[in-house]
Amino acid sequence: MNEGRKPYIAGNWKMNLDRAKALDLIKTIKGRLGDGNDREVAVFCPSVYLADVSAVAQGSPLGVGAQNLWFERDGAYTGELSSAMLREVGADRVLIGHSERRHVLLEPDDWMARKMRAALDGSLLPILCVGEKLEERKGNRTERVLKRQLEAGFSDIQAEEIRRVTIAYEPVWAIGTGETATPLQVGEVHKFIRRWVASRLGAEAGEAIRVLYGGSVNPGNVKALMSVPDVDGVLVGGASLKPDTFLPLIEFDR
Ligand code: PGA
Repeated sequence: MNEGRKPYIAGNWKMNLDRAKALDLIKTIKGRLGDGNDREVAVFCPSVYLADVSAVAQGSPLGVGAQNLWFERDGAYTGELSSAMLREVGADRVLIGHSERRHVLLEPDDWMARKMRAALDGSLLPILCVGEKLEERKGNRTERVLKRQLEAGFSDIQAEEIRRVTIAYEPVWAIGTGETATPLQVGEVHKFIRRWVASRLGAEAGEAIRVLYGGSVNPGNVKALMSVPDVDGVLVGGASLKPDTFLPLIEFDR
């Protein structure tokens, strides 16, 4: 962690919970949240619950985000949602290029810049997710893959926008598997990502950008991960679904 970058703890509910459970969970999180001055906490919930969840979160520093968006403003895109629609139901942020969207729903790299642009132009704070598959790590291709994903996602981002953008490094092999990247592996990749941002958008941008780690984060490993110098927060799937496992993450330093 770094003094100048506020720790960011984000829960990605994916396609889990029902409306009643989502509302219970958000009420519990809101009740335990401080004033938000020393950390940023957000949940990325199924779009159909955004209006209800954001209504509960209102008046607190809790962020509420969508898990995906489409980059056009309107038109014949059956099943998709625009940034304006997401904002209208209370989202203030959005995940872009989550590994499940890239690898299960087959979203190509060349959509990412347009999605990042649509998010920023639509006043949503994007988290660009990047990460290598197991065979890519084993084949020593981790940096090559990350560079490709970063180049695609950042091709239309300007240095002055960097404070509104977050990156999440989520190795595909660590997502939902119970296997976590070691602090050493995470440190190497986060340093690589920060250097890449500095080389692309300048030293100040490299210093300012927050880079989160995601992949089987839980109350038992959060401290070690948060103490890695270039880790500014965590993006959490499974452990974000229950107060027992999510509250210790938002209180990682207590
Ligand atoms: P996980 O998911 O914590 O269940 O591994 C992380 C994510 O996909 O964001």
